[in-house]
Amino acid sequence: MKHLRLGVNIDHVATIRNARGGAHPDPLRAAKIAEAAGADGLTAHLREDRRHIGDGDMTRLMAELTIPLNFEMAATDEMLAIALAHKPHASCLVPEKREERTTEGGLDVAGGQETLRHYVESLKAADILVSLFVEADPKQLEAAARLGADIVELHVGAYCDTTDSIKRQSELVRIQRAAALAEEMGIECHAGHGLTYDTVGPIAAISQFTELNIGHFLIGEAIFVGLEKTIHEMRRRMDDARRAAA
Ligand code: PXP
Repeated sequence: MKHLRLGVNIDHVATIRNARGGAHPDPLRAAKIAEAAGADGLTAHLREDRRHIGDGDMTRLMAELTIPLNFEMAATDEMLAIALAHKPHASCLVPEKREERTTEGGLDVAGGQETLRHYVESLKAADILVSLFVEADPKQLEAAARLGADIVELHVGAYCDTTDSIKRQSELVRIQRAAALAEEMGIECHAGHGLTYDTVGPIAAISQFTELNIGHFLIGEAIFVGLEKTIHEMRRRMDDARRAAA
């Protein structure tokens, strides 16, 4: 049974801080609590508009974290320079539109292969693992393999967000097939976006996944019961689902 890593996305601690300016609540403090609560890694997305973490957060996270940072970034020269300066454990290339509320879909690797190649190769040359955030679509996975990505992170938002049980089941099947294809192609497979206590079980049960990256739900739930407790409960649900499926 492969260990399923939990990556905690702390962006929304910074979103709350930024609503008022100032220093509170501090995403680094959240990162340290997550680390102590058993998170295997941290995720943070430095957006072009700095709506959640900022450049100073990135410096502090890199200086003080002892677990790996998965740095989410758009494929731009500005972000590439920041990644190369900090050398996080991994960089996850994501599509980014200024007007979107969150990352709405996967990266079009198949359509943008030539543009992406420079970013993938530059990151890999600096020994940063490259992850591509893609839809569970064979065409995107094949393009990711051709580019030499180390990891694909499957966007599971459509599965998580629907309230239609038939659609949820068909999305789950699509995700299962994509995860199996990634394994066949020898690419490590992660999942993220929209996962909650209610949706994590069937995703954690997919044996090919080695990491789930979860943010919004954990930070929201932490308001009521605290971050440590929330992470423990998510971890328990992930482990139970994986054990039951083994
Ligand atoms: N993985 C990626 C690549 C993302 O862009 C996000 C959202 O920023 C997440 C995981 C976490 O998604 P959520 O905040 O919905 O749990």
